[in-house]
Amino acid sequence: MKKIVSANLFIAFTFIFAQAQQTSYCVYQGNQVKECASYDSLQQNSGVNIPKYIVNMDLSYKERWREIITNYKSPIQVFINYLESSDAVRKFEQAFPLYSDPNFLSELQAISDLANVTFSGIQLVSQMYEILGAVGCTSILARSPDGSIVHGRNLDYNYSQLISPLLANIEFQRNGKTVFFADMIIGTAIVVTGVVPNGFSITINQRDSDQQSINYLMQQYIPACYLIYQVLQTNTTYQDALNTLLNTKIAMPAYLNIAGVSGNQASVIERDREGVNLQTTLSGSTWFICQTNYDRSQIDPQSDYRRVPCEQKFGLLNQNSWKPQDMFNILSQSPNYVSSTITTDIMIPKTGYINSTRWFNPPPIKQQVQKLYKQILIVAIELIFICFL
Ligand SMILES: *[C@@H]1O[C@H](CO)[C@@H](O)[C@H](O)[C@H]1NC(C)=O
Ligand SMILES: *[C@@H]1O[C@H](CO)[C@@H](O)[C@H](O)[C@H]1NC(C)=O
Ligand SMILES: *[C@@H]1O[C@H](CO)[C@@H](O)[C@H](O)[C@H]1NC(C)=O
Ligand SMILES: *[C@@H]1O[C@H](CO)[C@@H](O)[C@H](O)[C@H]1NC(C)=O
Repeated sequence: MKKIVSANLFIAFTFIFAQAQQTSYCVYQGNQVKECASYDSLQQNSGVNIPKYIVNMDLSYKERWREIITNYKSPIQVFINYLESSDAVRKFEQAFPLYSDPNFLSELQAISDLANVTFSGIQLVSQMYEILGAVGCTSILARSPDGSIVHGRNLDYNYSQLISPLLANIEFQRNGKTVFFADMIIGTAIVVTGVVPNGFSITINQRDSDQQSINYLMQQYIPACYLIYQVLQTNTTYQDALNTLLNTKIAMPAYLNIAGVSGNQASVIERDREGVNLQTTLSGSTWFICQTNYDRSQIDPQSDYRRVPCEQKFGLLNQNSWKPQDMFNILSQSPNYVSSTITTDIMIPKTGYINSTRWFNPPPIKQQVQKLYKQILIVAIELIFICFL
């Protein structure tokens, strides 16, 4: 009997030791580690839907974000502390604010207060598309057999392990009614993937930039992902949203992808800062469009060959019987699925359907720590047993 118990104890101790060894995800306060969790459950190839929340836009910024920011405080601090550990970033933050629209800054101030992180750090992450760059992405727009439009996307981004724990699928409401759904990186006031039910859906893919974005932010050209957030809040139809995306000056070039409810309502817009380089729209003969990170006038480079394979795979589907799951399968497989793919989303604007899959599954930090305590408790109970034997 004793032998079994000590074997058990040995296993339990080994387990605790292994857990302690694997801590790679820590929350800091100043230079002091507050709590750590293990990243051992963080792995790709095991997608799960991301957590859902409701945000009530009738409340002040501080009140509407209170619950969710409180829940996400730790990973927000981890992400911003990581970015601010770079001297270059800290120096750069002295130039803030860049884009200084009063609503933008009020919302960010509320988030920074709730998350207990610097206001400049919060401004940085909401302008990361312009300042940090390096977003990959694939978007697909396609007409489904029932005539509705299906809009899929992969979000590929550096810092995937830091961003993944920050994701939430938020239903924004006004007067108790849904206005839109968005996949958000909590701690930011920007959207890269969102849908207005019975209206439209938008995604952004990075288009090559020239390092000039900071100057344009200072000149108050809007951050493209903040524009998307605004459009989702204020526009209700495909046509209004399309007009805004075509005509608003943005601080960095982008591919803006928009789908509507039916017909040929789907466009990939190759945006320059001030105008449109090319708009590609569905037509009678074009029933789907794949977009990665290159202009359609050129073939993707061999080192990043994703658009043509996407087109070839999609072209093999039967236009009269394909399903949203087929789009998901293409997005979740190589070469469109890459090592930095954080999420795969499938949206149908007609119904407001949004299915958000996250590929890096972070450990919920609190539970992870509790698990450790649980193990210690088990060992303690076993020790008590030994004493009685
Ligand atoms: C975080 O909270 C502490 C204690 O309330 C405060 O002293 C500190 O200034 C806050 N830090 C930031 C970055 O807001
Ligand atoms: C982001 O990823 C790209 C491509 O993998 C890489 O070239 C770049 O250096 C990365 N940037 C940062 C800031 O990690
Ligand atoms: C569409 O959204 C933009 C950005 O929020 C706004 O400026 C514009 O007035 C909206 N248009 C309509 C028709 O609501
Ligand atoms: C929806 O998400 C789940 C969970 O990640 C995934 O297994 C499923 O394939 C997705 N379906 C579609 C149509 O996107």
